[in-house]
Amino acid sequence: MLPMSPRREAVTVRVPAKLNLELLVGPRRDDGYHDLSTVFHAVSLFDTVTVEDADEWQVEVLGPYSHLVPAGDGNLALEAARLLSSWEGLDRPAKITIDKAIPVAAGLAGGSADAAGTLVACDALWGLDSDRAVLDSLAERLGSDVNFALTGGTAIGSGRGERVAPVLGRGRYEWVLVTSDEGLSTPAVFAEIDRLRADRDVPDPEPTPAMMAALRSGDVVALGAALVNDLQEAALSLRPELGDVLAAGMECGALGGVVSGSGPTVAFLAENTERALDLVSALTDAGVGALVKRAGGPVHGAHVVSGT
Ligand code: C5P
Repeated sequence: MLPMSPRREAVTVRVPAKLNLELLVGPRRDDGYHDLSTVFHAVSLFDTVTVEDADEWQVEVLGPYSHLVPAGDGNLALEAARLLSSWEGLDRPAKITIDKAIPVAAGLAGGSADAAGTLVACDALWGLDSDRAVLDSLAERLGSDVNFALTGGTAIGSGRGERVAPVLGRGRYEWVLVTSDEGLSTPAVFAEIDRLRADRDVPDPEPTPAMMAALRSGDVVALGAALVNDLQEAALSLRPELGDVLAAGMECGALGGVVSGSGPTVAFLAENTERALDLVSALTDAGVGALVKRAGGPVHGAHVVSGT
């Protein structure tokens, strides 16, 4: 008789937040989504997801944002685990523990990160060694940003964001993130951009030469100048005070600043680590935002840190 492979006790995965260095939004599609051309960039602000065998499906969220995350149905990580388990025809409930450092409803794709982290963690716990194509097809069903959280690095996103192609760029970048006390709803921000652009011609989105050249060369000044987000206008319309945050960062020496995704987090690019530290203290002194935090990028996507 063959020896049984030992059952793993628990698997822990680390998964990063994302910024959008470029986010160009096309017209609303018939299915309610918008075609995008975006540059995703994974930064060193991580959620940690641990999965272990349990008698029933459970999710526990730890940390300062735990009260903002549903602990039962409607939790995207739980949905991810159940989706993989039913795809594989397994009946093996798990407990998912999410140690959350990525702010919620912040434009940083924290919920998508947790879903991607859970797919990778359950894949390892259950010894599946799934093809990447399988994880990608499940990720796509869970949300538009989940595929990128599997990939990490810097990547072009197209379709509704789920089609991801890595960018061969140079350079490591120093970012300063300014978060807000209150999140913004992604559907509300997309609805607001539709309202604001109702009388405008909206072109099909495609990557800009300026952004591609900046990433290829690793020119931090050019990258600062190329940051762009079509949703920023909508986020500012819903949250005018974000204009003060953007102005404060530029006054304090950032090379560029942009609302990330649907906001309200604002990301500033600093010339180097020293300038990033200066920017953190200047913005903290200025009293803007809820949290002022340094993060570097690009970093890897969802990866196992213990349990295998
Ligand atoms: O895919 P995800 O669940 O993250 O999307 C959340 C919401 O954001 C969608 O229901 C839609 O309103 C909006 N969205 C969009 N176009 C995209 C991505 C998201 O309109 N490309």
